[in-house]
Amino acid sequence: MSYSPPKTPVARLVPQRDLYEPKPARIVRTIDETATEKLFEIELISGNPLGHQPGQFAQVFVPAIGEAPISLASAPNGRKSFDMCIRRIGDVTGALHKLQPGSLVGIRGPLGHGFPVDELKGHDVLIVGGGIGLVPLRGLIQAVLAERKNYGRVIIFAGFKTPADMMFRDELAEWQANSDIEMHISIDRAHPDWDGHVGVITTFFPEVELNAARTKAVIVGPPIMYRFVITECRLKGIADDDMILSLERRMRCGVGKCGHCQINSKYCCLDGPVFKYSDLKFMWEAI
Ligand SMILES: Cc1cc2nc3c(=O)[nH]c(=O)nc-3n(C[C@H](O)[C@H](O)[C@H](O)COP(=O)(O)OP(=O)(O)OC[C@H]3O[C@@H](n4cnc5c(N)ncnc54)[C@H](O)[C@@H]3O)c2cc1C
Ligand code: FES
Repeated sequence: MSYSPPKTPVARLVPQRDLYEPKPARIVRTIDETATEKLFEIELISGNPLGHQPGQFAQVFVPAIGEAPISLASAPNGRKSFDMCIRRIGDVTGALHKLQPGSLVGIRGPLGHGFPVDELKGHDVLIVGGGIGLVPLRGLIQAVLAERKNYGRVIIFAGFKTPADMMFRDELAEWQANSDIEMHISIDRAHPDWDGHVGVITTFFPEVELNAARTKAVIVGPPIMYRFVITECRLKGIADDDMILSLERRMRCGVGKCGHCQINSKYCCLDGPVFKYSDLKFMWEAI
């Protein structure tokens, strides 16, 4: 694949204080979702809402440790606080998991482009979330449910490796009980603690009828999942322009300065993390 250097628009180089300075924030409460994932409800000390859209992320700063980009896991929906669901994996996330309600952190954001919520209105929305991919999608689902009448069918495919990996259990149960949503949950392999659907997330596609012309698909999951889900969406007739993906790349600055998250001419932090598949497919090999 040939390389073309990114053209950085001048506007991107203008320093904006807000983008570089973490806002002081307080952890309101935490909930253990799984053995390694914890939900954090966070509020800014200023008392202002963060002003985010579902699908955006923020850099979470732990004093003396560092920063990590984390998805915003709740819809604004008139709330002052917001949620993040964080997997304990290393220095920053490990330090976050040790913090108690009342602890202070820094929040830099909201950053990036979120899901095109307005573009989804009037369409059937197929939401495909694999594992921790359900975290940013939770905010989208909450936003869609808050204005349910503006959307057509809402179909959710959620897949987890094992029952122990299932997060947001109470909400999953609520969504399953909600007749306004077609909720499908799967576990990769049979397990004594699970009597529901078994199989990888793509096994739902042959079972569920979709009206491709009306459907927009929003897909978030581990890298391996995208290729297979995109293939299934195409088999159903969903256009590349109607597939919306959120990508996770290594990030540092989060604001288009350091180049760590660059994929060809796109900065994942600035142009994404949410992209249309039609904008990505020509560089898919590089992802
Ligand atoms: C846009 C975006 C949204 C994200 N949203 C969430 C979220 O909602 N919840 C969540 O738990 N995590 C999320 N992540 C991933 C999260 O940022 C990383 O897990 C975190 O930065 C790790 O920091 P650490 O200091 O704890 O780990 P480190 O000590 O830096 O690293 C620990 C290990 O994890 C690996 N690692 C670190 N970052 C990544 C990465 N981005 N991809 C693959 N491997 C990595 C390192 O190579 C190392 O092996 C998101 C990342 C991005 C870019
Ligand atoms: S993280 Fe620095 S350019 Fe995207």
